[in-house]
Amino acid sequence: MNLILMGLPGAGKGTQAEKIVEKYQIPHISTGDMFRSAMKEGTDLGKKAQSFMDQGELVPDEVTIGIVRERLSKPDCQAGFLLDGFPRTIAQAEALEQLLAELATPLQYVLHVDVPKDKLIERLTGRRICPECGATYHVIFNPPKVEGICDHDGTALIQRDDDRPETVSKRLEVNAEQTQPLLDFYQDKGYLVTVDGDQDINVVFEEIDKQLQTLV
Ligand code: AP5
Ligand code: MG
Repeated sequence: MNLILMGLPGAGKGTQAEKIVEKYQIPHISTGDMFRSAMKEGTDLGKKAQSFMDQGELVPDEVTIGIVRERLSKPDCQAGFLLDGFPRTIAQAEALEQLLAELATPLQYVLHVDVPKDKLIERLTGRRICPECGATYHVIFNPPKVEGICDHDGTALIQRDDDRPETVSKRLEVNAEQTQPLLDFYQDKGYLVTVDGDQDINVVFEEIDKQLQTLV
């Protein structure tokens, strides 16, 4: 199962990805998560990504394409993969096409989680994440069992640095510009499936899962 999850910041890509990978046991490849863990470890990649992420800008294509190329070439991706937040530009989409052709592994669906822009700010500013396992919560829409504590490992939850209100608006602006050309790109190729992401988290997953059932 070779999948891409698309959607504006806060649309619910990470939230749905957790459910998809749990059910279908494919690796979850989130470029945002990869950059955040590189920043935490202080690697060269993390240093390169930090200034762009802090400003709500995209990390340059050559850096992003490089890490995806490396990741998709690992053996665990032979059984499938779920890309979350990649590609985000046409140059990235074209590089991915070339890479998948080299790996002789075709794409199946591009799942677009569609949420009206005016809902996203509330989702992003209320988001909390576990710094240990990466699980995502929301103070109102998806609270942990105990306030401020991860259900999985008991770690204290934190807010992402780029969820500050000033960075949130920049991220939404940058991503909104890039999204339509990409949707057109995948629509033309027949991969695009749009899911209404403005519904309860479990209902969104049921819709995604209905599509995925056609592949098993
Ligand atoms: P990335 O980490 O990918 O961030 P993003 O695209 O801004 O998306 P988010 O992770 O913020 O949102 P999400 O859709 O995953 O939503 P979530 O499920 O958490 O990228 C970060 C940065 O890295 C970029 O700005 C860029 O700098 C860089 N980068 C990454 N990839 C790149 C690329 N390809 N090229 C260049 N640069 C790149 O949900 C959000 C909140 O809403 C949560 O609190 C959740 O609980 C809640 N929620 C989810 N679903 C629902 C629902 N149905 N109803 C109510 N609440 C919900
Ligand atoms: Mg995410």
